[in-house]
Amino acid sequence: MTDTVYKNARIVLADEIISGCVAVTDGTITSVDSGTTAVPGAEDFEADYLIPGLIELHTDHLESHFRPRPGVTWNPIAAVQSHDMQVAGSGITTVLDALRAGTDADARALAEQMRTLADAIQDAGRNGRLRADHYVHLRCEIASPDVIAEAEAMLHHPILKLISVMDHTPGQRQFVSLDKFREYYLGKSLMTPDELEVYIAERHALHLEHAVPNRSALFELCRNAQIVMASHDDATEEHVAEAAEAGVMLSEFPTTLEAARAAKDADMAVLMGAPNVVRGGSHSGNVSATDLAAAGLLDVLSSDYVPFSLLHAVFLLPERIDAISLPDSVRMVTANPARAVGFDDRGAIDPGLRADLVRVHFSDGVPVARGVWREGKRVA
Ligand SMILES: [Fe+2]
Repeated sequence: MTDTVYKNARIVLADEIISGCVAVTDGTITSVDSGTTAVPGAEDFEADYLIPGLIELHTDHLESHFRPRPGVTWNPIAAVQSHDMQVAGSGITTVLDALRAGTDADARALAEQMRTLADAIQDAGRNGRLRADHYVHLRCEIASPDVIAEAEAMLHHPILKLISVMDHTPGQRQFVSLDKFREYYLGKSLMTPDELEVYIAERHALHLEHAVPNRSALFELCRNAQIVMASHDDATEEHVAEAAEAGVMLSEFPTTLEAARAAKDADMAVLMGAPNVVRGGSHSGNVSATDLAAAGLLDVLSSDYVPFSLLHAVFLLPERIDAISLPDSVRMVTANPARAVGFDDRGAIDPGLRADLVRVHFSDGVPVARGVWREGKRVA
């Protein structure tokens, strides 16, 4: 029995937009047709867009709910719920929440609490508390002495979906220029200039001691456990070659055009931040997502630190770049991320796939999610 029919929608398919209806039965899309319908009670979309539920591979946003102020740690279930509400309200129906492994100066206490958060995400999902479908993306800081032990502790967590290998040592990758790094950190007012120099020296010493052996050990762990791997902040062809050789399938936030091109050549998916598209550039002074998209080098967008930026960027990109259509930008947040991490039951509006759907109205340069359904159930 058909549960619901949505009519008068501009349906965004993989390569085209059609005006028509979508029917959903038991949480699954059962038909997609152009034209109208005689089914009574069909929900009228009034020519709004109907797009697949967004798939987010790297959000850091949960942390801001778990630690809403320095020194304040929130109830983990409540933090997950509050994060989830914003995620679902932004049209995201599948989300990989980024948790950290490996101590770094930004998150000394947080690292110990990652397991607690992963358990809270899993329990909240099982108990019907969440609107979106949540998984864990473990981001591993390889210059940290404890990263391997922490990654091992999380490796067989049932909702772990992706592991990324990071090295945020000043002067590397995200901050190739130490001056940019100083500017960024002093701007955050977390340290005095003298403290910052001590911090940089400490981080360099850790990098020299741990980065190389930890990188190999982590790749080995992931391959044995068959976890999808991502590299992070690739800046050079050498970074990409090293990742490709280890079996990495996803290059997150490459910092140069050269690295993004090398990643494409190595058949890796290239992921960039949607806030970068919305703002029109990178907050750390690296290559812009829009430039990569214009060069045909962008596969996946991620909301990073602002959940709503994902839907926003989808509608801004086609306005900014002639060669990118709305179906192209929608694929960057649906079919492409689904393929990158191995979801084969979602990511497009096709019969047989999960009815993860978003009704979007777009005017005045800002889209709005007027309705969000996960497996046919209205969640926002
Ligand atoms: Fe980074």
